[in-house]
Amino acid sequence: MSTALVILAAGKGTRMESDLPKVLHKIGGAPLLHHAMLSASALEPERCIVVTGHGADAVEAAAKEFDPDAVAVRQSEQLGTAHAVLQARDALDGFDGDVIVLYGDTPFITTETLEQMIAARAAHDVVVLGFNAADPGRYGRLIMDGPSLKQIVEFKEATDEEKAITLCNSGVICAESGTLFDLLTEVGNDNAAGEYYLPDIVGIATARGLTATAVTCTEAETLGINSRLELAAAEALFQQAKRRDLIEDGVVMQAPDTVFLSFDTIIGRDAEIEPNVVFAPGVTVESGARIRAFSHLEGAHVSRGAIVGPFARLRPGAELAEDVHIGNFVEIKNASIDEGAKVNHLTYIGDAEIGARTNIGAGTITCNYDGVMKHRTTIGRDTFIGSNTMLVAPVTVGNEAMTATATVVTKDVPDGAMAIARTEQTNKQGFARKLFSMLRAKKAKQAKV
Ligand code: UD1
Ligand code: MG
Repeated sequence: MSTALVILAAGKGTRMESDLPKVLHKIGGAPLLHHAMLSASALEPERCIVVTGHGADAVEAAAKEFDPDAVAVRQSEQLGTAHAVLQARDALDGFDGDVIVLYGDTPFITTETLEQMIAARAAHDVVVLGFNAADPGRYGRLIMDGPSLKQIVEFKEATDEEKAITLCNSGVICAESGTLFDLLTEVGNDNAAGEYYLPDIVGIATARGLTATAVTCTEAETLGINSRLELAAAEALFQQAKRRDLIEDGVVMQAPDTVFLSFDTIIGRDAEIEPNVVFAPGVTVESGARIRAFSHLEGAHVSRGAIVGPFARLRPGAELAEDVHIGNFVEIKNASIDEGAKVNHLTYIGDAEIGARTNIGAGTITCNYDGVMKHRTTIGRDTFIGSNTMLVAPVTVGNEAMTATATVVTKDVPDGAMAIARTEQTNKQGFARKLFSMLRAKKAKQAKV
């Protein structure tokens, strides 16, 4: 059976103390909303509806960035979770598969858990995701009768006996589309909060003779974000889990707690990540590459055998072929560095191509920006760029060519040629000694005054 998602993301998130809508706060470099959409995307949902309210335009844009086919529907007043799901009704017109309701601020629900819920749907009309809470606090409580879920009681409505129940509602619900909207029309708001409660559909379903059940997951999986502190704690959990996954898959890390990863970081077996490395989004490191301490990588690809850092910065579009060496205080942006090339010290390479085995000397800069536009630098294979060369783009240096130290390259350099552009040196005999003694005398005179 096909599935559709309804992701609730209209809430204000008052406790975040932020102008940014809550679901756009990030974990592992991706908005909370994307985490929710990512784990559900493996189910290949036929439709994805995001219910927006506070900061609707920004939330809608983020939803479409993840999935251009996502449909955003507005809930202009936040009258409760049942009311929120009802806003998706028109967008689900003609869809008759299972609908899974998720929260945009609950990033850790796994694909496996959602698959279990879909499997449980085969035998039950409504499936709820529950968890055993260490401290059930203000969560809704699941009232079970053996394997059957009879009702969900919100904390505000619960009796003391019901409050003693530790099996809680995560908020994730799955039901066939027709059944879901049919049940939702019966949900009222005559309760302590004056809200339309989505969990009420369970009691309504069982009263009608339909069946409901609960699938359970760990409490960590259902963790929702309501404050900056919870966001920071969730980030820490995310980092721990991501590091563990990578290490289990064969990545070497001497100090895992100091390595920061993104939701999409890919690192191959036997790759070595030294301490204090940051992976912003979009990085792939192939097997056997080595990222040395204090490097920062974003939107970059590092091939087998390459060595990056220490203290290197790879910015978006950095494409390093096999056995490339990038050394300390080197910045690479939107540039491809071919096999075996070396850029070892204090250099900026931006909007460039560098051929195989070429060596870039210390202090080289591709002058790629004229204050208005960006221009490309192309350097061939087996070329030697002398220290402190300024390459004023657009410019091309050929194969097996050379630039002399401190050359400002403003014209193309043909294959096999050496470019030299600097004033000739003159040595003034004895001048240094004379100057030193003059200066020392001046200093001594000043000290006496
Ligand atoms: C809800 C459940 C509770 C469950 C808990 C788990 C209800 C009535 N209660 O309570 O059983 O244990 O989640 O965290 O559903 N939202 C909207 N529009 C609205 C209201 C909410 O989009 O009108 C969104 C919020 O942005 C949030 C999610 O729905 O992402 C849940 O809303 P929230 O107010 O946090 O519900 P809880 O009171 O925590
Ligand atoms: Mg909540």
